[in-house]
Amino acid sequence: MCGIIGYLGDREATPILMESLKRLEYRGYDSAGVAVLELPKNGDPTRTSVTKSEAKVDTLIEKLESNMPSGRLGIGHTRWATHGKPTYINAHPHTDCHGKIFVVHNGIIENFAELKAELEAAGHEFPSETDTEVVPHLIEANYKGDFLAAVRAALKRIKGAYALAMFSSDDPELLVGARLNAPLVVGLGEKEYYIASDITAIIPYTKRVLVLGEGEVAAVTPLGAEVSTLDGVTIKPKIVHVDWDVTQAQKGGFAHFMLKEIHETPEAIANAMRGRLSDEGLISFREFDVPNEQLRNLNEVVLLGMGTSLHAAMIGEYVLEDWVGLPARAADASEFRYRRPTFGDKALSVVITQSGETADTLVALHQAKARGALSVAVTNVIASSAARDSDGAIYLHAGPEIGVASTKTFNSHLVSLYLLAMQLASANGRISLERRRELVQALRVLPEQVRAILARDKEIVKLAHKYSKYRNFMYAGRGLGYPVALEGALKLKEISYVHAEGTSGGELKHGPIALLDDQFPVVAVCTASSTKDKMVSNVHEIVARNAPVLALVSEGDRSLDGVATDVFEMPAVEEASLAILNTVMLQLFAYHVAVKLGQDVDQPRNLAKSVTVE
Ligand code: F6R
Repeated sequence: MCGIIGYLGDREATPILMESLKRLEYRGYDSAGVAVLELPKNGDPTRTSVTKSEAKVDTLIEKLESNMPSGRLGIGHTRWATHGKPTYINAHPHTDCHGKIFVVHNGIIENFAELKAELEAAGHEFPSETDTEVVPHLIEANYKGDFLAAVRAALKRIKGAYALAMFSSDDPELLVGARLNAPLVVGLGEKEYYIASDITAIIPYTKRVLVLGEGEVAAVTPLGAEVSTLDGVTIKPKIVHVDWDVTQAQKGGFAHFMLKEIHETPEAIANAMRGRLSDEGLISFREFDVPNEQLRNLNEVVLLGMGTSLHAAMIGEYVLEDWVGLPARAADASEFRYRRPTFGDKALSVVITQSGETADTLVALHQAKARGALSVAVTNVIASSAARDSDGAIYLHAGPEIGVASTKTFNSHLVSLYLLAMQLASANGRISLERRRELVQALRVLPEQVRAILARDKEIVKLAHKYSKYRNFMYAGRGLGYPVALEGALKLKEISYVHAEGTSGGELKHGPIALLDDQFPVVAVCTASSTKDKMVSNVHEIVARNAPVLALVSEGDRSLDGVATDVFEMPAVEEASLAILNTVMLQLFAYHVAVKLGQDVDQPRNLAKSVTVE
């Protein structure tokens, strides 16, 4: 979950490390540090300058600005603590006994205790409580004059997950990166190279990116980057061109990334459809090009994800059953991975992951693959692990999402799942041309409909301020409105720290209703659907318990006038479109509650954007 960056080139490393760490901060932000190999002055020996902060990157930047190390090789880190508290000593980079080898790490070294005991017995000393610290010591223990060989030998002993950037002051022209079960890219610039946890960190500098594979090591020198296995076998690197631009990764005048990203939803969902949808509702995905015959043979769809992506999976489940008539189930990937799988090689596993790096989701994907299932990753990150490990990929093309809470990508996931459902329904003949045309029409106008909701921000601010006095919330919905309610509740709790839970309307009276009173409002998703009348009955039951109700209803529906405390009218459109429009409204509602409460919306406490550990 931490962010790592490395630089080797002909410019000053420190400013580049500082700027890149700011961009990586969403991956973790409880402490930070850099190590820069300083240019030798007057024939002095090389010296590495280490600067750390036990707080966010800004504090590190302040320190660096008052004492800027000068050098062309350096590494940096922003931490999300797993082993050891976020203290100065535990902040990366970590070093060996002689202060020559410097390492930054993202991931978890599962056998660190065993390795540490072995190294301590051999005389190595470990000031920190981190798992990472074994890496420089293990390299030191294996060092026989060749840094790269020592790195390879050390990594062979390590179990778990790592993305590493490393250098040794004995090799001032060598920067080394390595990965296993954690993402790492190498940026290829003009006479300069970068190693980074992800592309976001380096897009201002280069759009040419070498994506490192599992168990691979990149040796970066002024001559270029060479990739090899831990056994030293050279590998032809995979280089991709990234089409994101720098402004996409900046706030662009919005108060927070989250708000900016919610406002990018119209473009994001248009991008998810671009070039994939014909007027007749025929779908083609460039990176998931499976013959209709194979699609027709599928007998089950399993949708895997975590958090917000799991909620998208739940919507996918409803839509696939309804439009395609195939058994579909959404599964919490962290549970799925420990269950006994029951499906086989006629299943399709759809892996839903914005980052493409969520550890639980990746393991579940590997299990589905091991059962022979066809797999497709629906992801925002090109060449991410999920994309590479699946048979195909449906890229969201939503642009970078920096706010820790997922917003625009949730809706891009929904559009992608709708397209996938249309594709499967066409392949098995379950959908008429007329219905396909209706759906195409509904999807094409969706960006404009989202814009219309965004334009009602002031109304939403008013509601958010009114409701921001409450400490508990229930969100309720049925059908597609149920996952939407779960997502609305998740958004509110994660950024405002206000307790919120989601429930299906039907489940309410099986327990959750006991919580309700005049201090426990309910956000009720009551927009048009086959179960809308049931939701209206639920609202009556809620109101009878004195709970305030904020109801989302379809335009012109008067059934909750005078019943719900507040009614927010949505356009009368397709249910699938409403899932997106309702979500945008609830995202804005959560955002404004959190801002009113003065919370750090883009970087909520205890969270990280990319959860690369189990
Ligand atoms: C919540 C949120 C998380 C992620 C989850 C999965 O706002 O962002 O719940 O949805 O950690 O992340 P991805 O989609 O990257 O697999």
